[in-house]
Amino acid sequence: MTGELSPIDKAKFAAAKRAANFVESGMRVGLGTGSTAAWLVRCLGEMVRDDGLKIRGVPTSTRTAELARQVGIEVITLDEAKWLDVTIDGADEFDADLNLIKGGGGALLQEKIVATASDQMIVIADAAKEVGQLGAFPLPVEVIPFGWQTTKALIEETLINLDVMGRDTTLRMNGDAPFVTDEGNFIVDMHLKRIGNARQLALVVNQIPGVVENGLFIDICDVVVIGHGDGKVEVRDINEGTVEEDRIDFLDNENLFADL
Ligand code: 5RP
Repeated sequence: MTGELSPIDKAKFAAAKRAANFVESGMRVGLGTGSTAAWLVRCLGEMVRDDGLKIRGVPTSTRTAELARQVGIEVITLDEAKWLDVTIDGADEFDADLNLIKGGGGALLQEKIVATASDQMIVIADAAKEVGQLGAFPLPVEVIPFGWQTTKALIEETLINLDVMGRDTTLRMNGDAPFVTDEGNFIVDMHLKRIGNARQLALVVNQIPGVVENGLFIDICDVVVIGHGDGKVEVRDINEGTVEEDRIDFLDNENLFADL
């Protein structure tokens, strides 16, 4: 069955499966959004059904909420949870300091709120997401629809004074219409190619009226679990300064692939 999964999907699955081991009964868990996070939700669902794991999940998008309910995870809001033990989510890029670009799936606002409200944030990713310097992946900025063209122009003007290589911005589309986030906002993608000072950029962009939040996650992520297509996983903990290697056996997980 796993023969039908691409190496990249196997890598994402391996990372998600290993990260699910961080979750214990009684925890309030932030559930990320995207294809890697979807594997995590399926793994946790299996643990709920088969192993009696008792958790409450706070999803970061309507997509994730739907999947979590489907696989049997109790879903609560962040306001009900108030604070979370751990959030596990994917990323579009991560660097050596575990700073991230997120929002490729358009859920960066809820993802950032939920991750920030957690004792620990764990990122799950395939090895291709690791970069020397952030910025090759377009950095998403969530903006309110009112006056979005003016906000976009102000973002471009702001970029002139910042240490970035590219300054093009595009409104994210969904077919012929703007892509709309769960909060009813638009996304402007910034094609920066290389970000010299991510911390400064994140602060400055958020000062622009009309900008709700940007996809840079600085000093939020604690652990990255990197999956490989052969089942190898690497767990890097930035606070402990540790790196551990592990292996996921795909044959042990055939039932998780059966519904796909
Ligand atoms: C969604 C995100 C995702 O975590 C990010 O885009 C990675 O997605 P995938 O796991 O599908 O590669 O930030 O807003």
